Amino acid sequence: MELKNTPVVITGGGSGLGAATARVLAAGGAKVALLDRNLDAAEKVAKDIGGAAFECDVTSEENVKTVLAAAAKAHGGARIVINCAGVLGAGRILTREGSMAASFFETVLRVNVVGSFNVLRLSAEAMQGLPEMGSDKERGVIINTASIAAYEGQIGQAAYAASKGAIVSLTLPAAREFARFGVRVNAIAPGPVDTPMVAGMPDDVRASLEATVPFPPRLIKPEEYAALVKHIIENNAINGEVIRLDGALRMAPK
Ligand SMILES: NC(=O)c1ccc[n+]([C@@H]2O[C@H](COP(=O)([O-])OP(=O)(O)OC[C@H]3O[C@@H](n4cnc5c(N)ncnc54)[C@H](O)[C@@H]3O)[C@@H](O)[C@H]2O)c1
Repeated sequence: MELKNTPVVITGGGSGLGAATARVLAAGGAKVALLDRNLDAAEKVAKDIGGAAFECDVTSEENVKTVLAAAAKAHGGARIVINCAGVLGAGRILTREGSMAASFFETVLRVNVVGSFNVLRLSAEAMQGLPEMGSDKERGVIINTASIAAYEGQIGQAAYAASKGAIVSLTLPAAREFARFGVRVNAIAPGPVDTPMVAGMPDDVRASLEATVPFPPRLIKPEEYAALVKHIIENNAINGEVIRLDGALRMAPK
């Protein structure tokens, strides 16, 4: 899928991975719409890159529908959709005080799984009506964001890891299903990235985390995630795949 002049939707575009991706894709000539429940943050990024910002809670079907339509009105129907909206949701299943509230678990899954699913299904629904493009007769590409916690969830990551495991498992069936109308589905599973989501970490925790990454022994840069997004967009052979981006890190139990 070519980037130049192509309408792009990025959820969670106001911060971290979504914002970095927005900058890289806009620099490549894409028309970028940023969806975030934090409109101020999305507007700041949109202003920098000449994109459009929309307030959107990805857990709301109605909200996602309305905002995808508004983004299509501004830029044309999105052919590239990147799901970066997500929450961390740390906590043990069981402490001496009792077990994790099911409502907490549900909230993490609602944002990370149902939110990504809403954007995936509703944007794919719109994509199937767009004309085919290029020699591959493609219509679009959707990239979800998993995490290496999907594979090696640490103690305290049960809800988050379960949500990211669902994103991993969604990739292949969605790619198989959408193949008939030329839409690819992939996911990226990053290790710890230097974004506001991990910025709250005390210095010593950060240093010891960095030391566990075989090479390069540091946090992943948001720009490295964005570069992989750009490559997946431009390489039509990548489909139904979850790509780890983690410097060979395999997380320990804690
Ligand atoms: N930072 C990391 O180390 C890391 C590692 C692996 C995976 N990830 C995943 O990457 C994605 C992006 O993470 P990040 O580090 O950029 O986080 P971030 O907190 O910097 O940005 C997340 C953005 O999502 C938005 N958001 C949250 N809930 C939303 C909702 N319901 N509707 C719309 N927007 C919502 C927030 O407002 C924020 O702007 C997440 O899915 C995260 O789980 C992050």
